[in-house]
Amino acid sequence: MCGIIGFCGMEGSTERAAARVLEGLRRLEYRGYDSAGVAAVCDGALVVRKDVGHIDEVDALQHLGALVGDIAIGHTRWATHGGVTQANAHPHTDASGRVAVVHNGIIENYLPLRAELESQGVVFASETDTEVIPHLISAQLHNGHPALEDAVRAVCARLEGSYAFVAVSADEPDRMVGVRQGNPLVVGFGEDGAYLGSDVLAFASKARTMATPDNGEVVVLARSGVRFMDGEGREVEKERRPVDVGWTETDRNGYPHFMLKEILEQPEALLHTLEQDDALLMDVAVEILRARQVVFTACGTSRHAALIGRYLFSHVAKKFSDVVMASEFGYFSDSIDRHTVVIAVSQSGETADVLDGVRLAKEAGAHIVGIVNRPSCLLVDESDHVIRLNCGPEVGVAATKTFVSQLSVFYQLAFAMVNRLGEARCDLQEGAHRLDILLHSLNGSLQELAWELREKEHAYYIGRGINFATAMEGALKMKEISYVHAEGMPAGELKHGTLALIEEGMPVVAICPGDETHEATVGNAIEAKARGGRIIGVSDVESEVYDDWLRISRVPPLLYPVMLVPPLQLLAYHMAVERGCDPDRPRNLAKSVTVR
Ligand code: M6R
Repeated sequence: MCGIIGFCGMEGSTERAAARVLEGLRRLEYRGYDSAGVAAVCDGALVVRKDVGHIDEVDALQHLGALVGDIAIGHTRWATHGGVTQANAHPHTDASGRVAVVHNGIIENYLPLRAELESQGVVFASETDTEVIPHLISAQLHNGHPALEDAVRAVCARLEGSYAFVAVSADEPDRMVGVRQGNPLVVGFGEDGAYLGSDVLAFASKARTMATPDNGEVVVLARSGVRFMDGEGREVEKERRPVDVGWTETDRNGYPHFMLKEILEQPEALLHTLEQDDALLMDVAVEILRARQVVFTACGTSRHAALIGRYLFSHVAKKFSDVVMASEFGYFSDSIDRHTVVIAVSQSGETADVLDGVRLAKEAGAHIVGIVNRPSCLLVDESDHVIRLNCGPEVGVAATKTFVSQLSVFYQLAFAMVNRLGEARCDLQEGAHRLDILLHSLNGSLQELAWELREKEHAYYIGRGINFATAMEGALKMKEISYVHAEGMPAGELKHGTLALIEEGMPVVAICPGDETHEATVGNAIEAKARGGRIIGVSDVESEVYDDWLRISRVPPLLYPVMLVPPLQLLAYHMAVERGCDPDRPRNLAKSVTVR
């Protein structure tokens, strides 16, 4: 949700900073892409270029990478405060145009700050919350804090909310200053300069080591070196750690879209999730078994995975747990205490609602298990135990391979609780092999089906038991990238209202694996067909009720979601393409949702 990056060339470096920043912005584009901009400092002057559109569109108009100078900052935006306009795009400047800021997060008290500045005669150029920051910095620079780093520190004392920002000043052309409070910001150390970025992808292939400022710490990237300071201005030592090279590969590798690449990568991703530390899994399994209550918290696709995790824990280990939507967690946390295990599931480890819930649960004494994909993220810092998906970067905004990886982790955890981890791993290995065959065999027919369905505006997805969440996930994928209204629900609920909406030709995707739910779900599909529904059966068992049969492989019943969701992802992908939508850049979405 907005990506920020800065590059400061070291003394002697001949690199044009704006070109590095532009390269980083392209890698951060998944965080938001409605507008973009770059500011560069050169010979005591500050130049800002920004516009509406994807990075490449803005670059074509504004030649972002051509800006000269050793210091540059950049931003790719996902609009929160203020519409998608050139004026609202970052970087934002003070009135003199000598201070520029890129920001990710929300300044919650921006309205009173803006009113205060306006009463002093400041004229705002945008509708954003961000713009108060450069104006406040400018005021501090002229009022007792002539050094940019001191001015930034003084401004932070006035800001409420969670944020990360980077500031530059034409009067200090050899440095940039970054700070974070609740939002991510990492420092990368390259051979010819240092980077600040919203995440490691900003500089992945350029930096060998990295460090993370703590909340409230200020980092100064100067041509002479990098310094970290606490909120009082005292220097602090920072440990550098290596950049994970497995995390640097973000090419489409010849695929038309990242989403397709990542869907087809799922068998391999599943195998990578098996690379877990057994002792860690066993520790977490014991914590879960010992806990008086176990609560998952997550959003979107990660929440659907958690719903499946809940079934797995119950079926395999007879351990009850509940799933609370992260945005609702705060309203539902009265019973959280030190006997509670909270399992926070988040691909990015940055989702604001998840982090809020985790912090609340920690205060109440709960034990936090974070399940994350991104190697360095805020959730890792907040968790007592961290289980990593190990499936590499997921660039597509729609979560795909991280979903099946989350399922794999839950499957292993459930079986670890009953001392049958080895059995789980064999199932998953075999599952990965079958999934590979399945994806390649179904891709062509899913493309044809998508072509036939391309003009539909509504679809229903039904499933039972562990696969009710599979139906929800299939529908979410369809909604977010194809803009088809799709609803997923427990099949048994269809007749309690929704059946009223089924009419001639309406696609009804029936998730009917050959398990204990098969007969009942087929029964619900028959009811939908009787009202004119076009039944798309996803199953390993044939049935006369299906108008279209997406035949999947037979696997152990608890592994069906791993086999069922990828074809639904592919269907959504092909629908998006047939409808002329860009699956990698769905409208109004960002991959990391760092605002509430
Ligand atoms: O990074 P997280 O797993 O916390 O993200 C949660 C959701 O924002 C995410 O799953 C979202 O629903 C995806 N766009 C779904 O494809």
